[in-house]
Amino acid sequence: MSFEYHSGRLHAEEVALDDIARRHGTPCYVYSRAAIESAYREYSAALAGRPALIAYSVKANSNLAVLALISRLGAGFDIVSGGELKRVIAAGGDPRKVVFSGVGKTEDEIALALEAGILSLNLESGAELERVDAVAARLGKVAPVAFRVNPDVDARTHPYISTGLKQNKFGVAYAEAEKLYRDAAERPNVKIVGIGCHIGSQLTRAGPFVAAAERMLALVQQLDTAGITLEHIDLGGGIGIRYHEERLEPIGAFLDGALGMLAGRKETLIVDPGRSLVGNAGVLLTRVELVKHGEAKNFLVVDAAMNDLIRPALYDAWHEVRPVRKTGAPQGVYDVVGPVCESGDFLARDRQLAAMAGDLLAVMSAGAYAMTMSSNYNSRPRAAEVLVDGRADFLVRERETVEELFAKERVLP
Ligand code: LLP
Repeated sequence: MSFEYHSGRLHAEEVALDDIARRHGTPCYVYSRAAIESAYREYSAALAGRPALIAYSVKANSNLAVLALISRLGAGFDIVSGGELKRVIAAGGDPRKVVFSGVGKTEDEIALALEAGILSLNLESGAELERVDAVAARLGKVAPVAFRVNPDVDARTHPYISTGLKQNKFGVAYAEAEKLYRDAAERPNVKIVGIGCHIGSQLTRAGPFVAAAERMLALVQQLDTAGITLEHIDLGGGIGIRYHEERLEPIGAFLDGALGMLAGRKETLIVDPGRSLVGNAGVLLTRVELVKHGEAKNFLVVDAAMNDLIRPALYDAWHEVRPVRKTGAPQGVYDVVGPVCESGDFLARDRQLAAMAGDLLAVMSAGAYAMTMSSNYNSRPRAAEVLVDGRADFLVRERETVEELFAKERVLP
């Protein structure tokens, strides 16, 4: 494990977190290279022996150092904006291994993707097909496309992160798919390359994932019969991680179910994991500013806040909180809260913790959807990011300064 206690001090690999706090300050995200690589290897081992591409979902953690690390492992990338494409390129990623999803790609983003030569634009509507065809024609290019099909499978996860139901905005309706493929096949500036789906995030059971794969495969066979052949099948991301007491099926169980069905088929299998590659590879390191005893509750007021980790406020997510050093502080039941002016500004509630002012805490499982969802609310500069590799720690993003926050603002003359 990458975050463990040695002599009473919580470490990231071989570096003590209190040393990182001293060197880089708090709040600070700390990532473990070994943890990312070992999660990646679970995928590559499960997919060994068949044409496959692991397209890391950039939205989970888009720091250039993380992207470069994952790119060097041979991964491609799943992106949802032109900004993410530019990050992938800046990190040395290969645009030919990039799939671009999202319901509202702008013409500029489509043009950027075509110029970069990405693997596939995953279209989410007929209107988008028309738009991509038009941009490609204007640039004198042929756009590689796939449709993201909505398999209408209940992922049984939080409604905000469920994406594969009829009522979700994502994907094209299953029943419409063949018609859209036939339309695409007629267009000279479009080349059909694949099909994709994504049913939701933080899936703990393989069942819905495998059910979606089954639905996709049935569609692939239907398209085959219609004379439309595909180069890849993209089953999305979504495999969950352990935050608390989730009982998770291993990555292999998700993939084996799908692989079994795809056995003997020549299409490349693409998966686009985000959280499961980086989520448990990061912590948010924060310092207790003060202890507040309220009338009904006790609070540890820390220097990280909802702007650094919005998941508890947004999804009622549970993140484990661990003391960085085991001290003699008295045990208590606390809400761990930030200084932001919102009652929703909490990182954890009703936790048994021993901590006092000045102590460091680690908010666990903060490698995914933490920094990437952070904001500057309350004019709070975004935290530093540190990547640990064995005994070494590298500052991979400097803490923002307040001046940077308003550097682009102007007052009236
Ligand atoms: N591919 C597509 C097309 C997606 O929409 C997503 C995530 C992924 C891949 C990556 O899914 P993952 O492997 O990370 O589950 N902010 C939320 C998660 C939103 C995920 C949306 N789509 C959270 O913090 O829980």
